Amino acid sequence: MLDLKRQYRPIHQELLDAVGHVLETQQFILGEPVSAFEESAARQLGAAHAIGCSSGTDALWLALAAAGIGPGMAVVTTPFSFFASVSCILRAGARPLLADIEPTTFNLDPAAVRTVLDGPRGGAARAILPVHLYGQCANWGAFAQLANERGLKLIEDAAQAWGAEWNGVKAGALGAAAAFSFYPTKNLSAAGDAGMVTTNSEDVADRARMLRQHGMRRRYYHDEVGWNTRLDGFQGAILAVKLKYIEGWNEARRAVAARYYQLFAAAGLAEAGPYPGHGVVLPHEVAGSRHVWHQYVIRTPRRDDLRAFLAARKIGSEIYYPVPLHMQDALKQLGYAEGSFPEAERAAREVLALPIFPELRDDEQQTVVAAIAEFLS
Ligand SMILES: Cc1ncc(COP(=O)(O)O)c(C=O)c1O
Repeated sequence: MLDLKRQYRPIHQELLDAVGHVLETQQFILGEPVSAFEESAARQLGAAHAIGCSSGTDALWLALAAAGIGPGMAVVTTPFSFFASVSCILRAGARPLLADIEPTTFNLDPAAVRTVLDGPRGGAARAILPVHLYGQCANWGAFAQLANERGLKLIEDAAQAWGAEWNGVKAGALGAAAAFSFYPTKNLSAAGDAGMVTTNSEDVADRARMLRQHGMRRRYYHDEVGWNTRLDGFQGAILAVKLKYIEGWNEARRAVAARYYQLFAAAGLAEAGPYPGHGVVLPHEVAGSRHVWHQYVIRTPRRDDLRAFLAARKIGSEIYYPVPLHMQDALKQLGYAEGSFPEAERAAREVLALPIFPELRDDEQQTVVAAIAEFLS
């Protein structure tokens, strides 16, 4: 699925030097390596502030808490994402309200969110948390309009979307606050767990900085109950190096996605969708959006058999995500049942992520597509 060593080799000396600098200066937590990364990151995204923290999960909680979301409030989000997109709302003390996804992009559907807001529990909603799934922004035009109409905050789960854009604005600079993950498999990745909150609001940035250090603005004076979710110097230093390369890596991912399209089309396998018949429905870039292809996710009806077929040929693939969040044991308390979100449930049965990373070779992609063609024949 992913060979991280191909990214590491060409920049290994630069990374070792950066890590060596942290050891020389002994700035292990926050400090200069982290603030230097935060400043460059904010500049690259066009956001006013970036606040490093210890994971994408913590970044989501920090973003919500810093934006003032807490007990007695509800937040609308998607059932088709990584668990943290919903658990962060519970962690902030608020109630998650779920709405179904668009079958074409797998992102939260603004029309479904509107229905939830108009429903019995919608009155408690104070924010919408769209996820930019697989590296493509959720329909920000529609969400901005809805949030504006209803006086709601928009919080971005941009964990998978470093460098993605909506109408020329980068993910991370679209909402009241955004959360990024630098988990090692992400487009921009740390050497361990790391995350970041971005915002254009001075107030949200100040609160996020305070909350990531046990509610301290002054050392040992605690204004609120926060948590320890600081970013380590090693991760900041490594991320600052990789930040210089991420645009090129994202462009390479875009080229890999374009090549998949050509190969599937040439093999006569690409179907129009949104649902697959006998072939595969390919992912696409929405007009006005810049997709950074964190994942390349096809839809296919005999998904599990195809995955086993590929595995037998040592071709990696992955299912993001096999169980929609409303059907997870840990979230039964939310009160949803099977059938509540048909698009998310169908997607969970049909999606398959194929290998995609900047260094994936042409011949490797041909092998993947040829194997899928063989399976479908
Ligand atoms: C959509 C989404 N949200 C949140 C997270 C949580 O990030 P982390 O694993 O860094 O805590 C991830 C990453 O796994 C993710 O993909």
